[in-house]
Amino acid sequence: MTADLFADQPPEPATLPIAPGAVLLRGFALDVDQALLKAFAEVTASAPLRHLITPGGYTMSVAMTNCGPLGWVSDRRGYRYQAQDPLTGASWPAMPACWRELAVRAAAEAGYGGFRPDACLVNSYEPGAKLSLHQDKDEKDLSAPIVSVSLGLAAVFQFGTAVRSDRPQRLRLVHGDVVVWGGPSRLAFHGIAPLVDGEHALTGQRRINLTFRKVA
Ligand code: SIN
Ligand code: FE2
Repeated sequence: MTADLFADQPPEPATLPIAPGAVLLRGFALDVDQALLKAFAEVTASAPLRHLITPGGYTMSVAMTNCGPLGWVSDRRGYRYQAQDPLTGASWPAMPACWRELAVRAAAEAGYGGFRPDACLVNSYEPGAKLSLHQDKDEKDLSAPIVSVSLGLAAVFQFGTAVRSDRPQRLRLVHGDVVVWGGPSRLAFHGIAPLVDGEHALTGQRRINLTFRKVA
């Protein structure tokens, strides 16, 4: 195996515009990564990660759960947000303060002041898992942005426009990166290419993604 001297270097913090209303905040979550991951263990202990079924009957390769007042779920009946975890029947766990604070700070940095997320979808990708191109459009409030925090293994994020057939950009997201999209990019199609195997010092063989949304 050849050692890549630069593979584990943390990215320099930087704000990179990717489309109108959309920015990549390189390394924005790095200084709180340990706290974010500790809270991830707590959230997933009360609302376990699970592979949801799509309305079409497929099992999603990404394992998901939620925290905050509302959670995104999928089953044979469709996609929706609901206050109860269908697995446990209980409310979703509270959104950890360090998660919310990071999301609000990232939104403000991207030009979206006053972000008040009421849902956080937690995604866990193991090697081979992917998320096909889709729009986040189950939220009633499309005036608020989506804030996406990446932890662990790197992934290729596909980010297109509101037109499905437009060829998406491919952005490599690494541990600590935050992407914010709203305004003219709020309904941009996006997805994650199949995760390439690897080992991350803090998460092992997996990528974790947190997306913060304002639903109601
Ligand atoms: C999502 O679209 O909900 C997640 C995107 C990601 O995992 O980066
Ligand atoms: Fe999405």
